[in-house]
Amino acid sequence: MRRHLQSLDDFTKEELLGFIDRAILLKKERAAGVKHQQLAGKIVGLIFEKPSTRTRVSFEAAMYGLGGQVIFLSGRDTQLARSEPLKDMARVMARYVDGIVVRTFGQKVVTELAEYSSVPVINALTDLHHPCQILSDIMTVVEKKGNIEALKIAWIGDGNNMANSWIQAAGRIGFELILACPEGYDPDSEILAAAQKESAKPITVLRSPQEAVAAADVINTDVWASMGQESEQDERLAIFQPLQINAELMSKAPADAIVLHCLPAHREEEITEEVLESVRCVAFDQAENKMHMHKSILEQLLKG
Ligand code: CP
Ligand code: NVA
Repeated sequence: MRRHLQSLDDFTKEELLGFIDRAILLKKERAAGVKHQQLAGKIVGLIFEKPSTRTRVSFEAAMYGLGGQVIFLSGRDTQLARSEPLKDMARVMARYVDGIVVRTFGQKVVTELAEYSSVPVINALTDLHHPCQILSDIMTVVEKKGNIEALKIAWIGDGNNMANSWIQAAGRIGFELILACPEGYDPDSEILAAAQKESAKPITVLRSPQEAVAAADVINTDVWASMGQESEQDERLAIFQPLQINAELMSKAPADAIVLHCLPAHREEEITEEVLESVRCVAFDQAENKMHMHKSILEQLLKG
């Protein structure tokens, strides 16, 4: 049966942890020189309607690294740009490729592609979710700090796609998550309520970044204006300024707390150069782990 990855909600706790364990093993095997060919003969189509450096390249490198191939389509080059229905695009693509990786605006684009595609559809970022990113971020946390269920994770910034996927992960896996967001920039209320109901550990939204980092093992941030919100950039800069990850805020966190940033980073906005380039920040390990995680996801969903 084909499985889609529309959001982290599509998988059980055991399956989510399984993606992480497998990605860690694939990373070790690559370092040891093991040649992988699990996806030889398979093709994945990437449809990206927003810019990307890491996600695109890491999905492509993951596919080639497992012996497969990719076809990349920017949204504007397809007939979607001329209003071809998604249900037609999905059925046509599925005749050519073994999986579809999509980055777009509305979550409903992913939902509709998934409904009509006979091959797996993988969400590579929407306005609502960034599930593959959070899986590689949790992989990085596990590598650096061990069992995620015993850790306290802090999210400082916008209640955006990243925050929503962290919330779903916390709800399903069961780890403590504290989000500090400015009033009016909270995460999606339905996603939050569902995760709070499901989770074995507290998921809390508050306003004070100092309070959120006080006992945190992991401190996360992201840009203050996401793709598609460029017109709000100036307004957001002023509102989010008190949430900057800087040396002063880090002095309120435990000495061994690590800092995550999915990148791209806007230095001196959500994070200072000093913290981003410090040994406490693991952003470039996160970026590498996207490739190992995408291998794990592609292998699992495409193996048939
Ligand atoms: N972290 C991330 O998704 O980066 P890109 O936008 O470069 O893909
Ligand atoms: N929240 C950001 C994540 C970028 C990887 C955005 O959607 O632009």
